[in-house]
Amino acid sequence: MKLLLLYCRAGFEAECAAEISNRATEVGIAGYPVFTKDQGYVEYHLFGDALELMSQIKFRSLIFIRQWVACLPVCSELPTQDRISPLSALVQDLPQTAELIAETPDTTEGRELQGFVTKFASAFSQSLRKNGLMLSRKQASLWRLHLFALSGREMFLGVSPVKNSSRHAMGIQRLKFPSHAPSRSTLKLEEAWHWFIPKSEFDEALGGGLTAVDLGAAPGGWTWQLVQKGMFVTAVDNGPMNESLMETGQVTHLREDAFRFEPVRPVNWMVCDVVEKPIQVTELMLDWATHGWAEQMVFNLKLPMKQRYKETLQCLDRLKDGLNEHSIDFKLSARHLYHDREEITCYLDLRKA
Ligand SMILES: C[S@@+](CC[C@H](N)C(=O)[O-])C[C@H]1O[C@@H](n2cnc3c(N)ncnc32)[C@H](O)[C@@H]1O
Repeated sequence: MKLLLLYCRAGFEAECAAEISNRATEVGIAGYPVFTKDQGYVEYHLFGDALELMSQIKFRSLIFIRQWVACLPVCSELPTQDRISPLSALVQDLPQTAELIAETPDTTEGRELQGFVTKFASAFSQSLRKNGLMLSRKQASLWRLHLFALSGREMFLGVSPVKNSSRHAMGIQRLKFPSHAPSRSTLKLEEAWHWFIPKSEFDEALGGGLTAVDLGAAPGGWTWQLVQKGMFVTAVDNGPMNESLMETGQVTHLREDAFRFEPVRPVNWMVCDVVEKPIQVTELMLDWATHGWAEQMVFNLKLPMKQRYKETLQCLDRLKDGLNEHSIDFKLSARHLYHDREEITCYLDLRKA
């Protein structure tokens, strides 16, 4: 297959395109991106094989790409009276799968199409199984089948490797807003934990009784998450904290500048959602890491309007170089989460430092 379909937040197609071009070049596979701004996906046309490219890159190392699917050329002008026959004919050219994911771009038009696509996909998968073109749900397969619809007549058909892709439909981890949380931002930290920390390590990484600092904490959405995990939190912000959160007795609120604050003793977690230039936040994170003030950190980098991919790489490189200069062992990951907007979220694990 010569086409890799990449899903992203609408408006971040240029970053998604720059990222795949950069990563494909690194592994010596050539291609070119095609996209229209705000469409919520990028087509990456390859001179080599899309499956080969996917095998060379760890999906979890990608930042702006929510999901990737090796696709056949788009099926346009599907007959409305029988879409199943032409699509079934194409499935024969794909690796064998055991589940079908119905998807659309994450845009207003895409969301309006979701009801129809879900219904159609259910009929389509039944027909595929009946005709021996798809395994039963219980059978294991290395691949997932994706149907990505642009309209009732225009759809992409392709596969993603189960072990090297997002397990969520449309690459989106949907979370329910906890009704008692003080701000919607709370979902960013919750999603970050789900993405960066394997479930089997949750207890060790987030277990009760840990200590945390939340820089730029008000009104307390992130602090609320830390408190839910049983942590004792120092919340640093000039703004007011949510009152019921303060009543838990687990939060100390300091009206101080996050860039001047120094913890009395090291903490297990430091999280930072301060709105400031990304390179300044990066320097602050480096400062915390080199002082050994926190074992694990989650922080947001608020991206500028232009050159967002370049700025991202500059910040991550600065952090890596700084940590290496100090011979500090670390694990650093970054992701443009579903609940992020003009920002990315990073995770720095220094527990082996
Ligand atoms: C996006 S909000 C944080 C939202 C918070 N994470 C939540 O979940 O509710 C950014 C916060 O950073 C604070 N802030 C900005 N600059 C700061 C600084 N230099 N020191 C401390 N707090 C700062 C602002 O007052 C604001 O409350």
